[in-house]
Parts: sequence; structure tokens; C-alpha cells
Amino acid sequence: MKPVSAHPSPGFGGTATVPGDKSISHRALILGGLADGTTRIKGLLTSEDVMATAAAVEAFGATIERGEDYWSVTGAEWQSPGTEIDCGNSGTSARLLMGAAAGFDGLRATFKGDASLSKRPMERVIRPLTRMGAKFEGGDTLPVTLHGAQLGGIDHESAVASAQVKTAILLAGLRTKSPVQVIEPHPSRDHSEVMLAMFGVEGDAEQLEAGWAVSLGKQRQLTATDIVVPADPSSAAFLWAAAAIIDGASVTTPGVCINATRTGFIEALERMGAGITLDNERIQSGEPVADITVTQAPLQPIHVTPEQVPATIDELPLLACVAAFAEGESHFEGIGELRVKESDRLGAVAAGLAANGVSCFPEKDALRVLGKGEVRGGGTVMVHHDHRIAMAFLTLGLGAQNPVRIDDMSPIATSFPDYISLMQSLGARLEQGV
Ligand code: S3P
Repeated sequence: MKPVSAHPSPGFGGTATVPGDKSISHRALILGGLADGTTRIKGLLTSEDVMATAAAVEAFGATIERGEDYWSVTGAEWQSPGTEIDCGNSGTSARLLMGAAAGFDGLRATFKGDASLSKRPMERVIRPLTRMGAKFEGGDTLPVTLHGAQLGGIDHESAVASAQVKTAILLAGLRTKSPVQVIEPHPSRDHSEVMLAMFGVEGDAEQLEAGWAVSLGKQRQLTATDIVVPADPSSAAFLWAAAAIIDGASVTTPGVCINATRTGFIEALERMGAGITLDNERIQSGEPVADITVTQAPLQPIHVTPEQVPATIDELPLLACVAAFAEGESHFEGIGELRVKESDRLGAVAAGLAANGVSCFPEKDALRVLGKGEVRGGGTVMVHHDHRIAMAFLTLGLGAQNPVRIDDMSPIATSFPDYISLMQSLGARLEQGV
């Protein structure tokens, strides 16, 4: 266990480039590993989660080389790996790789994960992949053994908006000629659809009465391409949040992905009253990107509705921490998915806020936070091996009246390995070991 304390940090601010987007990095490695030819990836996130995917893609037979400026991935016909596929803490690795591997007839692979990942629901991908023709040994959680097969099509209605479920099915669908469609209640992040198009795969997306429908077209052969990974809005969010709550602060983050399926947090900050500017908007490898500046201002409470949840999903713990600095009651609805993330995030946020003097009222799939315009702090937060809980509560401490301590910073390496030094370079007072 590596504890860290975040101390009040007046003077925080400046410009910093955050690392590459985690979701896009996973997808670039997997699609590159399936494609004909060599894909070059610039700006790949080199965090533990993404490295788990890289090791798996190699184990399935692709060739990966790390150059000075970019990574190159040469695709292959996937084979049974010589070892178990260890996904560590990464749900994206587990779910996307199961989908990608499911259509290779004769392939056999056992997927495993750490204690947190081994508790997370896998039946949401196992069930549709089984309907398509794949076979699984094991239960609804890792470890499971996949037997790849010649797959048929599917028309799958997902009960939750989940990009991981959608992507697993689309990746499996690349290996069949039959119709493949996924319908979800609200659109989840669409990086797979954007990147599949970059690799030459045809697809379609439309609003149906049943929900948001994404389908594969006839052309499903992947051709290698070059991908530039934009900065991760889910990592930049920790810098933006600190800027929003620290008196007089302002932060600029260049080159951040502003795909509309990911902008829920920055839109929420704007609705709360923080100063937000977007400069230099451009398209990079099919993804919209901008330089984003966030400036502190008095904050209003926020109401997050179920339709807004998918575009804010990974930032909800942080948004609840920011809401503690607003004057009045914030309300988060339809957030039950937080209970099955790297930890029970709804429970962890409620406990962490309470430990720092913030009144909050958790329900099964909702949360109310009573902001008082200032936060007492002074508490210790259990992060339950969850990177986003760790960074959300360190952010709380940067703006609170007293330091906030987290019990363990080690999970931060799963998504944002240089978090501590990058935040310190902007003036954040983060002290390790206390
Ligand atoms: C991700 C999808 C989301 C998100 C996760 C990354 C992805 O999960 O929370 O951090 O890269 O597809 P769900 O698909 O379970 O909502």
C-alpha cells in the first residue's frame, strides 16, 4: 500500500499534456493486431491496462514493436496463446479481447484478471458471444476459457449502454458475413466505430425506437493504417476539476479528445459555472480534438440525468467530488453501472465524501451530494484498488481546507502512470508515504 496526501494547493495552474486516451489505445492495438499489414500508433498510452492488451495481442500472434515515436503492430491470424491471457485490472482488455478472439475457429484461450476484475460481470459479453457460436468454460466471472468458432450473426439488445459489450460483439462480427447489430439504451462511446472506419470496415449507426443501433456493413476486412491517439479526456478531467475548485486557478490541456460520447464531464463543469474555452479544434485519426482551458469560478450544483451518464461514466466519482464545492444539492440519477466498475464506485464515493465532511445520500442507482461551497477534508479514503477513486479524492484534497489522504496510489498506474509528477509540475501538493 502506497498512501498519498493531497494538500490545499493555492497557485495551482499552467499547461500540461496528459497521456493518450485509454479506450482508443486498447482499440488501436487490437484492430492493428487483426488487420492486414502494419499499423503505426503514435501517442499510445503506456499504462498497465493498455500494456495488458499489448501483451495479449502479441500472445494471440500479432507482432508488436515499440519505436521511438510510435508503436507498430503487424496483424496476424489469431492462434491459441501459449499462456493465460492476464487482463490485470482491465475490463476493457478482457471484454474486447474475448470478442476479437471469439471468431477464430479452433482458438482456445483462458482469460484471467486481478481480484477486482475477477468480480466484474462478464456474462454481458459471454451471453451474446455464445449466441454467435463461441463456447465458454467457467462461470459469469473470470477466469473463463474461450473456444473460438465459426460465428453467425446477431441482433443484440443490451440492457446497459456499454461500449465494451458493443465492441466485443462488433469485433466478433468481423469474422462472420451474417448481419451483426447491437442496440443500446443510450449511445456509448463510439471509438470502435470511428476506428473501424479508419481500418476500412463499413458500419452504420441510427436511432431506432428500441434504442441506439450500431451495425456492421458488408466490408469487414481490416487494412492497416496509422493512428494518432489524442489525449485522454478522462485523465485531463482531474486537471480540469482541480482548476475548477482552486481559487484563481486555470489549466490548459492541449490535444484532448472531444468526441461527443466523452464530453459529459466538461459540459457538466460548464453548466456548473466554470470557465471553459476550446481552441484549435481539429480532427485527428477520425476523432475531434481541441486544446481545453478550464478556469475557476463559483460553482452551481449539477443534475446528471440517465441519458447524460454514458458520456460522463468514468468521471462521475470526480464530478461528485467537484459537486461538494458547489453551493446546494447536486443529483446524479441512473448511475447503477458505477457499482460494477473497478470498485463499487457509488459506495466508495459516498464513503470518501462522508469521511471528508461532505453530506451525501447514496441510493441503489443514484446519489445526492449536499455542497456547501467549501469542503472540510481531513479524512482518509479507501480506494479499493480503483484508479479513478484514488485520483478523484486527491483532487478533493487539493481544494479542501485540510489534506485528504488516500490509502493506496498504486492503482493510478493502470491509466495515468505519471499522474503524481504531472500534477506536481502544475503546483499540486501531493505528498507520498504519509
Ligand atoms: C470503456 C467503456 C466503459 C468505460 C471504460 C472504458 C471502453 O465501460 O467505463 O472505462 O474503452 O470501451 P462500459 O462499456 O462497461 O460502460
